[in-house]
Amino acid sequence: MSGRNTTAIAHPNIALIKYWGNRDNALRLPANSSLSMNLAALATTTTVEFHPDLNADGVTIDDAEATASARERVIKHLDRVRALASINTKASVISRNNFPAGTGLASSASAFAALTVAACAAAGLQLSTDALSRLARRASGSACRSVPGGYVLWDSCNVDDCSYGRTIAPPDHWDLHDVIAIVESAHKATGSTEGHAIAGTSPLQAARVASTPGRLERCRAAILARDFPALADVIEQDALAMHAVMMTSVPSLLYWRPATLAVMQAVRAWRTDGLAVAFTIDAGPNVHCICPAESSAQVERLVRAIPGVERVLVSAVGGGSHVVA
Ligand code: DP6
Repeated sequence: MSGRNTTAIAHPNIALIKYWGNRDNALRLPANSSLSMNLAALATTTTVEFHPDLNADGVTIDDAEATASARERVIKHLDRVRALASINTKASVISRNNFPAGTGLASSASAFAALTVAACAAAGLQLSTDALSRLARRASGSACRSVPGGYVLWDSCNVDDCSYGRTIAPPDHWDLHDVIAIVESAHKATGSTEGHAIAGTSPLQAARVASTPGRLERCRAAILARDFPALADVIEQDALAMHAVMMTSVPSLLYWRPATLAVMQAVRAWRTDGLAVAFTIDAGPNVHCICPAESSAQVERLVRAIPGVERVLVSAVGGGSHVVA
């Protein structure tokens, strides 16, 4: 096997209908379907080279050697790619993010989408977008939604074959922006993987899962019709349902900071005053303010003025993962 050097780029995604909890943790088959949009302004760029001279896999993330746990997760995924390509060659993986990792900005989604696309190409595998998404899911559930572009639906199904992300609308279907209020950029205390594993300990998880199909359908219809008021209602309700599960899990996960709540309250007040904006929050304290592109500059200005907001990132809807070199 020759040392083919391949680089891929992937964007993280923000879930509008959340994935929280698995029916099968090992295969990462989710408890419920989820729906997201990719974030064009945020990106992970990953270069993979399988080289016969290497006697161990090397993993560099943001110019530093990966921690033991990150390295182990990357190697496990390289092993999946090696098994598919029937090779044993070790690889060097060099990955960079243009946004801070560990802030609840879903760095694992873009990380494993980029790794999947780069590693498969470097190993000489030619897989369809569906197959790449399915493979990325094994490393990080939300990564399957960063493989296809635009607005992506990850359908819950109870077998590996049909569990992957599919585009329901391309990025230019609706020019929504995500104005991200960073209220804390430290590494999060409890990662999503541990969170998914304890979701079932919350008495609210069964009710959340049972009621997700209705919210998903409303969210899908709102996106297809470009109906912002309908979208606003359903995404806030869905994010709060997930956080209610997190807070009532054993142990309890409470990701919010005082500034998280300040931004949520402000978003509701602005909406009452006629500004098109709604919030959603992942497994972290930062608030994603979703709005039509026309409202974005005003939302950004208002969010920046809230005490406790350290930084603001703004992104339009992004495309899928692809090989760049
Ligand atoms: C709250 O995909 O990060 O962002 O499969 O263990 O890597 P793993 O979890 P991950 O979970 C994402 C959880 C979420 C909601 C979402 O993105 O749907």
